Amino acid sequence: MAAPVVDAEYLRQVDRARRALRALIASKGCAPIMLRLAWHDAGTYDVNTRTGGANGSIRYEEEYTHGSNAGLKIAIDLLEPIKAKHPKVTYADLYQLAGVVAVEVTGGPTVEFIPGRRDSSVCPREGRLPDAKKGAPHLRDIFYRMGLTDKDIVALSGGHSLGKAHPERSGFDGAWTRDPLKFDNSYFLELLKGESEGLLKLPTDKALLDDAEFRRYVELYAKDEDAFFKDYAESHKKLSELGFTPR
Ligand code: HEM
Repeated sequence: MAAPVVDAEYLRQVDRARRALRALIASKGCAPIMLRLAWHDAGTYDVNTRTGGANGSIRYEEEYTHGSNAGLKIAIDLLEPIKAKHPKVTYADLYQLAGVVAVEVTGGPTVEFIPGRRDSSVCPREGRLPDAKKGAPHLRDIFYRMGLTDKDIVALSGGHSLGKAHPERSGFDGAWTRDPLKFDNSYFLELLKGESEGLLKLPTDKALLDDAEFRRYVELYAKDEDAFFKDYAESHKKLSELGFTPR
């Protein structure tokens, strides 16, 4: 395993921040928006130019005002008191830790968290995150640019097990599953059922059914939650480390 790049005091603060995050997420029921914040900070990564990634740059107005980040200022503000109490922990680490804790406390798999990400003040240009109105080729363009794979695309889409879309943020409305505060494989079960009363399916969610390579993972994860949790934990760790090479 990679040796930690941070000192003992940093690790102590990470531990305390982790406990504070559990308390915050439990009391506010804000696991979904924390997971979305972590994903949107990391998902700007470009493997070719090595720009963007899990570097905390989403804390700047220039980036959180990008259309795809609508609403995420709420999560940034909720995390500010935890940052103030644990000042050694970088924003980049704190946001990724919040995503990992969000999955854990809602019943999802444990995602290994290695600290040591550096903060950046360079914001990526708008347009690096996926457009929900598009199809499979677009998903591949975006996720391959991050250096991720078809399996990562499907496993990570299972993040929509949590939360809901808000008309005033994205123009979409509703949750993907019947219990949007529980992390499980119901996203894939609902996807395979087709249209269900009151539940949301984005064009990018439906694209996972139309493409044979994607669909085989959807079918696997719908019937085998352990397989989903194992792959999700690996893909989430990769996402959380985009632009960060633990030494
Ligand atoms: C919410 C699109 C992938 C986690 C949303 C929303 C959209 C969206 C449009 C609604 C935002 C709102 O109105 O509040 C997409 C697209 C993806 C994608 C096009 C491409 C595959 C992911 C990934 C994750 C994720 C990889 C995490 C692993 C979430 C969560 C919410 C959400 C947890 C709910 C937020 C809340 O309840 O406030 N996504 N997403 N999404 N997304 Fe995604």
